[in-house]
Amino acid sequence: MLNNRRCYLVTGGAGFIGSNYIHYMFRKYGNQIHIINVDVLTYAGNLENLKDLEKWDNYTFIRADITDKEAISRIFSEYDIDRVVHFAAESHVDRSITNPEVFVRTNVLGTAVMLNCARDAWELPDGSYRENKKFLHVSTDEVYGSLPDDGESFFRETTPYQPHSPYSASKAGSDMLVKAYMDTYHFPANITNTSNNYGPYQFPEKLIPLLINNALQGKDLPVYGDGRNIRDWLYVDDHAKGIDMVQEQGRLFETYNIGGHNEKRNIEIVHIVIETLLELLPEDDPRRKNVSTDLIRYVGDRKGHDRRYAIAPDKIKAEIGWEPETTFAEGIKKTIRWYLEHQDWLKGVTSGGYQKYYDSMYGNR
Ligand code: NAD
Ligand code: DAU
Repeated sequence: MLNNRRCYLVTGGAGFIGSNYIHYMFRKYGNQIHIINVDVLTYAGNLENLKDLEKWDNYTFIRADITDKEAISRIFSEYDIDRVVHFAAESHVDRSITNPEVFVRTNVLGTAVMLNCARDAWELPDGSYRENKKFLHVSTDEVYGSLPDDGESFFRETTPYQPHSPYSASKAGSDMLVKAYMDTYHFPANITNTSNNYGPYQFPEKLIPLLINNALQGKDLPVYGDGRNIRDWLYVDDHAKGIDMVQEQGRLFETYNIGGHNEKRNIEIVHIVIETLLELLPEDDPRRKNVSTDLIRYVGDRKGHDRRYAIAPDKIKAEIGWEPETTFAEGIKKTIRWYLEHQDWLKGVTSGGYQKYYDSMYGNR
């Protein structure tokens, strides 16, 4: 507790989901909480996402690497942390295929450091833990591998892990570490495995913001393989709400899958983005002429491309009462409207390093 406020240590809070989660938590709890956002600010971390909070006395930003044991344990000794919500990770599958090592370092070693520091701060001499301390590890449905394209099978909490990409293998490794801490030390934690998020502040290397950004500029819309791979899309605020509900109402030591019940083939997403842009752009906006299905380009497939992801969020609904609230029609409009109103943000994150990344990733497809 800090000044009688519940104290959160959020890792990776300057990234896409982390910054949406921090906004959600302040909307929900206001002055009753203090959030310490620990982020090293890789290309994916952006303090612009949280600019409105900078002057609040119950928000603290600390630039630190989660693999840096000393820096993280210092934070635990300076603050009486009640909750850890661990988002920080390398998160992009394509980058993991070209550069796997940093994924292992951040996602596996970084999680081990977070677990160790929290355990050191929270464990009592008799092996029990200080009251009401909880760690939530944010993970992905990609650890379960790929589903057949049958519309009938789903990822459940009992589905065996079968990760295919270096990204999902590193997330599976981090999940296993959390499970090991729970089994070995009775460490008070939960794991959430979630499907594809979309919404404001998502870096435009991921499918939906990449399509929006390219279409507005009249650039090709790259579709991997046959475009019929399926993802289960979840609006990011619904995810933030699910994380908070699991941490406060879930059973400790349990895993909960969080999914949108919203399966779409990639090519459907491409058409929806084009149609929504045309619906939202004013008649006299010069960018309208750029937006067209003529931009669609089928390109080489992603290596080891998982065919279908789909979560059955039955456990979280039955035990906690969480359900996705935002329909895709509503969520995609909110998202595209946000990008149209935040073109400066988009320009900021796509200058410099992004251009190099884009050229090397898509140059020879
Ligand atoms: P993101 O890439 O947008 O953000 C990651 C954040 O972590 C960035 O702010 C980055 O600066 C920070 N970070 C990276 N390495 C760090 C380090 N060594 N030390 C401290 N900070 C570091 O990612 P996201 O899409 O917001 O994903 C957040 C979490 O949710 C990840 O753990 C990811 O695996 C998981 N997840 C994402 C999705 C999705 O659809 N995006 C779905 C399910 C689960
Ligand atoms: O399922 C949860 C996961 O969702 C998270 O754990 C990851 O952090 C997150 O990045 C996301 O992974 P995906 O690989 O599913 O997301 P991405 O946006 O990269 O791709 C979505 C689908 O679109 C996938 O089938 C690949 C395809 N795609 C992607 C890009 C960037 C394209 O066809 N063209 C593209 O240019």
